[in-house]
Amino acid sequence: MNLILLGGPGAGKGTQAKKLIDKYQIPQISTGDILRAAVKEGTEMGRKAKEFMDAGKLVPDEVVIGIVEDRLKQPDCTKGFILDGFPRTVPQAQALDGALAKMGSRIDHVVSIDVDEEALVTRLTGRRTCKNAACGQMFHVKFTPPKKEGVCDKCGSELYLRDDDNETTVRSRLTTYNQATAPLIGYYAAKALVRPIAGVGSIDDIFNKIVGILGGGGHTCACGR
Ligand code: AP5
Ligand code: MG
Repeated sequence: MNLILLGGPGAGKGTQAKKLIDKYQIPQISTGDILRAAVKEGTEMGRKAKEFMDAGKLVPDEVVIGIVEDRLKQPDCTKGFILDGFPRTVPQAQALDGALAKMGSRIDHVVSIDVDEEALVTRLTGRRTCKNAACGQMFHVKFTPPKKEGVCDKCGSELYLRDDDNETTVRSRLTTYNQATAPLIGYYAAKALVRPIAGVGSIDDIFNKIVGILGGGGHTCACGR
């Protein structure tokens, strides 16, 4: 199953993707996580990307398209994938369609998670993220606090506030989303792929709504199908 999670910054794409990995046994491809790893490593690409990320702007299409095309060729994507934060522009969506067609594949579902803007600002300015990239679990100081302040429940690593989770950058990210990414809802609606869901309520309720759209799936058969 090839899935795209669409939604504004803080809509819950990462939170839901982490639960969907367990349910469907397919990998999450988060361009934001890949870019943050490049920033941390201090690569040339990471240095350039950081300027855009800190300003709440999009990293140029050719950079992220190249990242995703390479990632989709990895063997763990053969059973499917969850795209989180990609595509974010119509040219990215067109490039994705082209890359998948070459591989004899296509997108099966686009779930668009809707949350109003002020709720998104509250979610992001209160978010705390696990520093361990292999874990990357998200918490919220009010809505989903960790058992011990500043410490990840899952792996025990330190939690941090992302550089782009300050109110000024969050507002800029929202503007970018409305201008560049929201048109993708129309792009995928024209292909009859988009399923909007309300992204407010408990994380489990939202997860159940997504699973209701995607179907049971999972890894039930010992033969691997
Ligand atoms: P990226 O990392 O993709 O950030 P984003 O899209 O802004 O999304 P977030 O990760 O902030 O939010 P989320 O939807 O994952 O929410 P989460 O589940 O954490 O991109 C960062 C930057 O990289 C971009 O600005 C851009 O510069 C660059 N970039 C990335 N991809 C790119 C691309 N394709 N093209 C160009 N540039 C690109 O949840 C948020 C918080 O809410 C958490 O605290 C969580 O605990 C809480 N929460 C979740 N669900 C609920 C709920 N139901 N109720 C209450 N709280 C909840
Ligand atoms: Mg995320």
